[in-house]
Amino acid sequence: MVNFDRVYDRRNTNCSKWDSIKDTYGEDGLLPLWIADMDFKANLPVLEALKETAEQGILGYSPAPDSLYEAIQSWQKRHHDFSVGKEAILFNSGVVPSLSLAIQAYTEPGDAVLIHDPVYPPFAKVVEQNNRKLIRSQLLIEQEHFVMDLEMMAKQIVDENVRVVILCNPHNPGGRVWSKSELEAFGKLCAKYDVLVISDEIHQDLIFAPHVFTTFTNVHPTFKDFSITLTAATKTFNLAGIKNSMIFIENPDLRKKFVAAQEQNFQNEINIFGYVGTEAAYKNGDTWLKELLVYLKENIDLVSEFLQTELPKVKMMRPEGTYLIWLDFSALDLSDTQIQNRLVHQGKVVLNPGISFGPNGTQHMRLNIACPKETLVEGLHRIKHSFE
Ligand SMILES: Cc1ncc(COP(=O)(O)O)c(C=O)c1O
Repeated sequence: MVNFDRVYDRRNTNCSKWDSIKDTYGEDGLLPLWIADMDFKANLPVLEALKETAEQGILGYSPAPDSLYEAIQSWQKRHHDFSVGKEAILFNSGVVPSLSLAIQAYTEPGDAVLIHDPVYPPFAKVVEQNNRKLIRSQLLIEQEHFVMDLEMMAKQIVDENVRVVILCNPHNPGGRVWSKSELEAFGKLCAKYDVLVISDEIHQDLIFAPHVFTTFTNVHPTFKDFSITLTAATKTFNLAGIKNSMIFIENPDLRKKFVAAQEQNFQNEINIFGYVGTEAAYKNGDTWLKELLVYLKENIDLVSEFLQTELPKVKMMRPEGTYLIWLDFSALDLSDTQIQNRLVHQGKVVLNPGISFGPNGTQHMRLNIACPKETLVEGLHRIKHSFE
């Protein structure tokens, strides 16, 4: 059994989560429950594989080995019932760099690209920094969960001549694991208007039963014609620093365009530790992931109980997947700046401001619960103290 309760001191390890916040907020002693990495050590076989590679001592250029393709194919088949051909698998240093390449590969400057609101902030940045037109489509809330507003999306697609939609599947920050039927309706809409779907599936393994993750491209045999999938082992196994991700593109024309964008940007060579870590994680990670999901679910329950008894005005959207919780502070009647100031300066706790996920994120915060319970409980007390 992995001991996820063990607290590691990550301070002064040059990690973004713990070590950048003093400079950002000018405060000592802040507790970070923000950026999406986990305060858990990676699975031992992964660390051993990385060590073994380092011990070879010569770390020259390195192509992706066949064994890595096999590990990826086997993982996708076992966990997501997705059969991806070797020829469809490409690599890049990260999902966000791949989003940017995809925007360059499939659109022209000025073209409209639709994203949901709220959604992971780099989606908007990637669109805007490539000088494409950003269209935000507000998610609705039904039964305390986000749902897509397909009617609104259809109107935006037509009115703005949208060429591409970036889908966050599962959804960060809401933790929605889009159902197969939701994805089917969404995909049919995109097919009808000839819109390409870039499906960011980096959270695909972090799913709580009874919810089931569906690879967008796997929903219907025709969906592979107009979609590409971005994913990685780095979120699931807490390896963000090794910088590796995959792109699955089954349509040869779409693949050719993506490869051309990679070559143009010289982004087709990956760090050797990225390959090694990904392969070791997929080959040895089933049990570790199973235990992680049990621990994360306990942490979600813990947050839910704490809020109900100690801070009932703050409402949580219960995640179906991911280790992120979307918290609604609107009943406190404070502005985004006031909420943030209270948390940071009074409570000394750092969450991600909801407003950074889009205008629809106002008066919300995103909480990262991937930490030992001791840290989480301390964080919850700090959140409570922020509003006393
Ligand atoms: C939806 C989503 N996509 C991409 C990333 C980051 O991916 P990468 O580090 O591979 O660029 C994150 C990280 O939190 C994420 O939540």
